[in-house]
Amino acid sequence: MATTTLGILYGGRSGEHEVSLQSATSVVRNVDATRFALKLIGITRDGRWFLQPDSVIKAARNGAPIEGVVEGARQAVQCSPGGGLVVGSKTLALDCVFPVLHGSFGEDGTVQGLLELVDLPYVGAGVLGSALAMDKEIVKRTWQAFGLPVVPFSRVTAAEYRSGGTEVLQAQLRDTIGEGPYFVKPACAGSSVGITRIASSEELDGALQAAFRYDIKALVEPAIPAREIEVAVLGNREPHAFTPGEVVPTHAFYDYEAKYIDPNGAHLVIPAEFPKETLDNARELAVGAFRAADVCGFARVDIFFDKANERLLLNEINTIPGFTRISMFPRMCRHDGLEYPQLLSRLIDLAFERFGERQALDGVWGR
Ligand SMILES: Nc1ncnc2c1ncn2[C@@H]1O[C@H](COP(=O)(O)OP(=O)(O)O)[C@@H](O)[C@H]1O
Ligand SMILES: [Mg+2]
Repeated sequence: MATTTLGILYGGRSGEHEVSLQSATSVVRNVDATRFALKLIGITRDGRWFLQPDSVIKAARNGAPIEGVVEGARQAVQCSPGGGLVVGSKTLALDCVFPVLHGSFGEDGTVQGLLELVDLPYVGAGVLGSALAMDKEIVKRTWQAFGLPVVPFSRVTAAEYRSGGTEVLQAQLRDTIGEGPYFVKPACAGSSVGITRIASSEELDGALQAAFRYDIKALVEPAIPAREIEVAVLGNREPHAFTPGEVVPTHAFYDYEAKYIDPNGAHLVIPAEFPKETLDNARELAVGAFRAADVCGFARVDIFFDKANERLLLNEINTIPGFTRISMFPRMCRHDGLEYPQLLSRLIDLAFERFGERQALDGVWGR
């Protein structure tokens, strides 16, 4: 008999809704059914939550992908601060929640805050770590404060851009990050949306306008001649980094197409083909980045190997990385002997561990 009831949150309001459906399908199929009973909670694209019929779980277990969110007024999920998640007049008997949500309103601390308020343990980083990791500017400033090497950047807000004008900005970029080529990206986004590689600051206007469609803050970075290393990190206080992998895009860079549309858009190589010393350094850097950003549970740390200067630079950290069986995170774990179902169990154990530690703080919790 299953002893733990796990709530799976999936779908959601971000551009990565589809990816979440795929990740959730994999979780449902692979979770250890002898230990976990499941409740699926689907979040529509406009943010409403619905408890899904058990038939969706059954179908997913039998091989059908989860294709969307079934809506029904009587299955609407409400949040009861201090009292869990509620459907109608019944509190859902959940022991733990796994937000299998990527991007905004899922990976950025918002859902984590809600789960704190309803007092449920949940998988992955807490409010601060999630929010930090989502903001590419603030997380890099944090890493710099810890003495960790990052991809250089210059921040441009939409308001600064409008009031200062392009020429002022071009001069400022030349002084801070050189002549280009540059990468221009929204500070808070994912899946490579709104990202443009430009040859020089002549093309800045178009690239910034693309970035400002997704956030009111953008980063301009020197284009690094990079090999892209990804590291899976798992744990709370003593995080462990698995053998790193390398993403080798077949496109100009690892853009949205290469990630999700073109099946041959990128090769994933595990282990990354580097000398052992470089791999060890990448692992150490990933653990440092995980800790500095106050992340717990799991995260995928993405690092550039700068071919020009033969050095490692932190690019970003994803606190709810793609989680299908063929996604990088589970594949890197499997390479080192941790199979997907055991990985899931471990993540839930880590959620309980963190929740328990925080509950024991009687000064904070007033118990
Ligand atoms: N400064 C940079 N130099 C070289 N390539 C970059 C740079 N920034 C981003 N890229 C390319 O764009 C991809 C997506 O950028 P990233 O910052 O990881 O955003 P996202 O959160 O959308 O994945 C990277 O995987 C890499 O291929
Ligand atoms: Mg990335």
